[in-house]
Amino acid sequence: MALGIADMAVFCKKKGFVYPNSEIYGGISGFWDYGHLGSELKNNLKQMWWKFHVHSREDIVGIDGSIITHPKVWVASGHVESFVDILLECTKCRERYRGDQLVEDVLKISADGMKADDINKLVRENKIHCRKCGSALGEASPFNLMFSTEIGASGGLKSYLRPETAQLIFTNFKLVEEHARMKLPFGIAQMGKAFRNEISPRDFLFRCREFEQMEIEYFIHPNQTGKCPFLNEVEDMEVNIFSAEMQENNKPHSPMKLKDAVKKKIIQTPWHAYFLGLEISWFTSLGVNQQHLRARQHLRTEKSHYALDTWDLEYKFPFGWKELLGMANRTDYDLKAHSEHSKKDLSIFDEESKQKVIPHVVCEPSLGVDRAFLVFLFDAYNNDEARGNIVLKLHPKIAPIKVGVFPLVNKLDGEARKAFESLKRNFYCFYDRSGSIGRRYARADEIGIPYCVTIDFETLKDNSVTIRDRDTTEQVRVKIDGLPSFIEGLINGKPFGR
Ligand code: GLY
Repeated sequence: MALGIADMAVFCKKKGFVYPNSEIYGGISGFWDYGHLGSELKNNLKQMWWKFHVHSREDIVGIDGSIITHPKVWVASGHVESFVDILLECTKCRERYRGDQLVEDVLKISADGMKADDINKLVRENKIHCRKCGSALGEASPFNLMFSTEIGASGGLKSYLRPETAQLIFTNFKLVEEHARMKLPFGIAQMGKAFRNEISPRDFLFRCREFEQMEIEYFIHPNQTGKCPFLNEVEDMEVNIFSAEMQENNKPHSPMKLKDAVKKKIIQTPWHAYFLGLEISWFTSLGVNQQHLRARQHLRTEKSHYALDTWDLEYKFPFGWKELLGMANRTDYDLKAHSEHSKKDLSIFDEESKQKVIPHVVCEPSLGVDRAFLVFLFDAYNNDEARGNIVLKLHPKIAPIKVGVFPLVNKLDGEARKAFESLKRNFYCFYDRSGSIGRRYARADEIGIPYCVTIDFETLKDNSVTIRDRDTTEQVRVKIDGLPSFIEGLINGKPFGR
């Protein structure tokens, strides 16, 4: 039977990946804590994201903005006015529902982005009642998702925990452009926490109230929307495309080369096609099956207040295809809004066109770290019946622990610890001397350790050890001296055994 989201939460707790927050006090909905393996996995995937999107290119640099910022930022960005979900409350037991989700659950239709009036109409027409006590629901009303807070000892200055990292990129845009000497087109990346007071957090890490984002705002000259110099890097990738038109006509998603999707104007700008290809290739380079990913265009009704066109990268979760990463074309909405509200000129001089321009954010790849974490776990999880244990086939680059080191018998503890001490200078290793060797391999498989090194009696004779591959259980003998470079090679994709 397929692994459900609740099973994944149980697995994550049992193995030390993720715990319910403040569980000793009964927990609190929408908040989770990462355990020792979870924090390693999360840090690894963030490092890989930064390396891929920032360090390996010249056109993207990073920042790390603060979580609380001037409240005017959120007025200018439109979040104070428009960052809302529709709330429905039971008139009797006061249970609260997110309107679009309740309508979707009951009527099995898409209601994302529906306004309060339309939700009200559907609730009345279909006699939707409180799912807990069966009583009537009150009028639907907008509910702002930002967590508010007061700044300073005397209070008085109300601000918010940032609901997206993006705004710090816009407010720092001019400084970064100047100090990093960026030329259009260029991007600014940021990883960090964001907070949304979700009406009904659900599906484990999928919809939390505190979460982490990895975002890029990619700025271009406004007249360069139709020209992306990088499209050729991904244009032959065949991607599952689910356009707004396909959704409106009840057609299934369909595989298509990115260049064809651009040529047929299914994807409006080559930039969107490029970033879709780029993001898919990041996931597949770390082991995710491309067939579990698709690109879905937002319907007109579900677009955010700032977006001209948005494509989501969706993953086939056990509870359906769901957003993993959103890519909005934000145009000059944000820079213009901040220019107007701050009265500061945020235009820049473009040397190529010799013009002063307010650049357009043609694409904003915005990925939820916690959602990516779930994707890597679901794609890696294998219940291997022949072995009799779970095998977590995480890509070695993101696996929390890279190497397990075991003495075959306790008598070999001294030799084994020597190997462990030298390996742990290079990799995060785990030493295990308890239980049978089979039990130790199974324990390592279940937490995704890609390579296990066993010290046996041969080691005493020729300084060699066995190294076992998690995914195939294949074993080879390697001299201890050459072990670090052998493992380094494996992590970087060298085939096992050569
Ligand atoms: N910055 C886009 C988002 O947070 O959804």
